[in-house]
Amino acid sequence: MNFEGTTTVVTGAANGIGAALSRRFHAAGARVVVADRDAENLKKIESELNALRPDSAFAVVSDISTEAGNVALINAAREKFGFIHLFFANAGVAVGTFLEDTDEATWNMAMDINLHSHRWAAKHLIGDWLAAGEGYFCSTASAAGLLSQIGSATYSVSKHGAVAFAEWMSITYGDRGVRVTCLCPQGVNTNMLNPPGRDDGIDKRGGEVVKASGAVLEPHEVADIVHDTIVAEKFLVMPHAEVHTYEQRKVADRDRWLAGMRKLQNRIFQG
Ligand SMILES: NC(=O)c1ccc[n+]([C@@H]2O[C@H](COP(=O)([O-])OP(=O)(O)OC[C@H]3O[C@@H](n4cnc5c(N)ncnc54)[C@H](O)[C@@H]3O)[C@@H](O)[C@H]2O)c1
Repeated sequence: MNFEGTTTVVTGAANGIGAALSRRFHAAGARVVVADRDAENLKKIESELNALRPDSAFAVVSDISTEAGNVALINAAREKFGFIHLFFANAGVAVGTFLEDTDEATWNMAMDINLHSHRWAAKHLIGDWLAAGEGYFCSTASAAGLLSQIGSATYSVSKHGAVAFAEWMSITYGDRGVRVTCLCPQGVNTNMLNPPGRDDGIDKRGGEVVKASGAVLEPHEVADIVHDTIVAEKFLVMPHAEVHTYEQRKVADRDRWLAGMRKLQNRIFQG
């Protein structure tokens, strides 16, 4: 895929992986619509990109936790730059822990932002994409969507859903020109993994599990791998090679894998 002169939309673009994706695809020549509810940092990214190439970035302050929020973003992006070639459903939250500690509002927030936002965006992109015979959807799920997130039912379930939805998109529309990539990283050095006093980052012990399970990558390293995977039009982005090994162990013997996960949980949560 050649990104020169194409339009990319990135949700969760004000920080972390989304900011890195915005910079990476902008550097590849795309016009980038950056979307986030964090207006302050979003404006900084927009200014940074427009300073490199005038009128190549457009900030849309958005809340993608509703269908209306996704529709407003897509309409604003089309109005500014026309056809959307590539859409990153990247915004996410790590909220919720154990069943007994997680209320309905928290479950709904996790499901709306981490999963339903993907289908709401896709629902309002697919018509244009099928008519044009092209379009690219990239979702940021997580290694937790392939394995599990120790200490968070909401994150595990919503991210499994995101992987399942991306697979379904590829199966359903892949032969009609719609390409799909699903990003499944383990630890990435962002506010989510190291929350600066916020309540929408991962639980501290859950973060310890992630950090104990492998390397913590920088967002720009992940964005480079995503770029290369999209150029190659491959489905899965697994920036941490060990996740592949964990997944193979899970498929080979689920009982043994579950016992191993319980052992890891006991080490972190009782320690
Ligand atoms: N950091 C990690 O270790 C890690 C690992 C696996 C997957 N992920 C996933 O990567 C994605 C990006 O997260 P990150 O690590 O860059 O964290 P981050 O907290 O730095 O960025 C997430 C961004 O999403 C935005 N956002 C959240 N809810 C929103 C909403 N309703 N509307 C608009 N914007 C919203 C936030 O404002 C923030 O800018 C998430 O989907 C996350 O689950 C992160």
